[in-house]
Amino acid sequence: MRPLIVAIDGPAGAGKSTVSKLLARRLGLSFVDTGALYRTVALSARRQGIATEDDAGLAALLGRIRISFRATGEENRVFLDGEDVSAEIRTPEISLLASAVSARRVVREGLLGLQRRLALEAPVGAVLEGRDIGTVVFPDADLKFFLEASPDVRARRRYEELFQKGSESTLDAVLSDQTKRDRDDSSRAVAPLKAAEDAIRVDSSSLPLSEVVQRLERVIRERLAVRGP
Ligand code: DC
Repeated sequence: MRPLIVAIDGPAGAGKSTVSKLLARRLGLSFVDTGALYRTVALSARRQGIATEDDAGLAALLGRIRISFRATGEENRVFLDGEDVSAEIRTPEISLLASAVSARRVVREGLLGLQRRLALEAPVGAVLEGRDIGTVVFPDADLKFFLEASPDVRARRRYEELFQKGSESTLDAVLSDQTKRDRDDSSRAVAPLKAAEDAIRVDSSSLPLSEVVQRLERVIRERLAVRGP
């Protein structure tokens, strides 16, 4: 039987990572952070001086690099050619660059196989978080969720996360980067951010993320029970 595929899409700061990680842990599923793949490509392109509009350069880069994940304890670490880049890909600069490279068709197509493979090699199932999981990567996912929250709530969450990591970004700067990313991610021609028609939409503006996890967990457990062992 194919592993259970759970798609979690939504804009930046909607709580996808927190919710997906917790769900995966509680349900014994693998967690695939697809944003980390775009971020790693962005980091590598920047290091090698490849512009975000240079499709030929990006295609060659995708053929050269190897991105992998390793779960260490509570954490899911990301490796670029064996180097742990987990912290480096989380800066505000790389967020914007990831959004820019993710608009290039060559990058989206180049990462499609890897995203599917990472999920399909999961022993029981996988929770994938991203922007186009339910629409493009796994249009036939077993369950699709679209997480939303008001721009203010999302910016505050992201700001607090960055603050805890020692970043000096201000709330205004986070909100302004987020607005740009939302606009670019939703308006790009290839695989824009949008909810799949059959996605369950959850707005966490006034809902603690622990409550979101409980709701989604209930739905996923029901589906696992129907599938049987
Ligand atoms: O989820 P994130 O913030 O780590 O994602 C970084 C960028 O990558 C985001 O601005 C858009 C892009 N992305 C995407 O286009 N498709 C995905 N499935 C995941 C991320």
